[in-house]
Amino acid sequence: MQVTPAADPQMSREDFLMFRDFIHEKCGIFFAENKTYLVRNRLVKRMADLGIKTYRDYFYHVKYDTSLKEFNALLNLITTNETSFFRNEPQLLSFSDEVLPLLIDEKNKQCGQKRLRIWSAGCSTGEEPYTLSIIIHEKIRDLTNWNVEIIANDISEQVLQKARRGEFSGITMRNVRPDILTRYFTKTGDLYRVNPSVKSLVNFSHMNLNDPRRTSVNSNLDAIFCRNVMIYFSDEVKRQLTRNFYNALRPGGYFYIGHSETLHGISKAFKLVYFKNALVYHKEATGVAATAGTGHTATAQTAAKPAGSSAGVSSGASRALDLLSKIKPVSQHK
Ligand SMILES: C[S@@+](CC[C@H](N)C(=O)[O-])C[C@H]1O[C@@H](n2cnc3c(N)ncnc32)[C@H](O)[C@@H]1O
Repeated sequence: MQVTPAADPQMSREDFLMFRDFIHEKCGIFFAENKTYLVRNRLVKRMADLGIKTYRDYFYHVKYDTSLKEFNALLNLITTNETSFFRNEPQLLSFSDEVLPLLIDEKNKQCGQKRLRIWSAGCSTGEEPYTLSIIIHEKIRDLTNWNVEIIANDISEQVLQKARRGEFSGITMRNVRPDILTRYFTKTGDLYRVNPSVKSLVNFSHMNLNDPRRTSVNSNLDAIFCRNVMIYFSDEVKRQLTRNFYNALRPGGYFYIGHSETLHGISKAFKLVYFKNALVYHKEATGVAATAGTGHTATAQTAAKPAGSSAGVSSGASRALDLLSKIKPVSQHK
């Protein structure tokens, strides 16, 4: 849409810093100064719609709106919600064919009801948690003796509303195999509705990942997926959040971040594990609570194969390994 000059004021450095610091404080998202145009472009149409002429006026409009309506509108403007079903196949293959069988084996050794808890942090419109639910259905055909919970949250109420509806169409479905479409979706016109069995494992709720009181509530998780979310956060927020993720995982749990992301310089608490399809962060069975700082005392940051392997590389190499894994096959986990 063409924006009229009256509704398109120049954004001064002061205006930019005012919004940048506010957004960072509230939700952890950090815009470098070379992203001024992006912040400006996202605000200018909203300001025109509201008839607000200056960034400062809009800032106060957001800040002093006690209903939080405008803050939520701002969040919707500045967050990137891109997602899709079965996003990044290698990571999901590592979960479905390697990590999940390990978890299932462990749970099968326990008596009584088997519990599996997974957290999709920054779930956007729901494709990630629904994909995880489908994978679990595929791997555990009879869920009678299982108590499976996928906790899914996001800061944006708008995306959560869509996630709860569970209706999808178009490009987000591009990686869904036809047999999966048949088994787990009901098609009406162009719309694919997620079946109730898939929905029933997923619990959507609002959460600001930049609120340590909220992110420290979850515990005893088997796996956490926080893919393509922390990439927008400052290092300071990433460190705090990663500590809480570490503490929320049970010893032996797994942590997935986006395939182009790394914990290098953020946390030394996890071990990076080679699986055939992807590298995954792992909280060792002996893991102790992570405290402030980039890591905790017990574990060096090493890339390792899962139990039984002797391979390991030095601490600073995780990013290099991320890259290496894309060009050179890594040995297969037994
Ligand atoms: C690019 S999407 C990633 C979705 C999904 N994890 C994936 O990889 O496909 C990033 C999501 O993180 C959410 N987000 C950003 N900041 C957040 C915060 N402070 N707390 C919770 N969610 C946040 C955004 O609203 C957005 O839906």
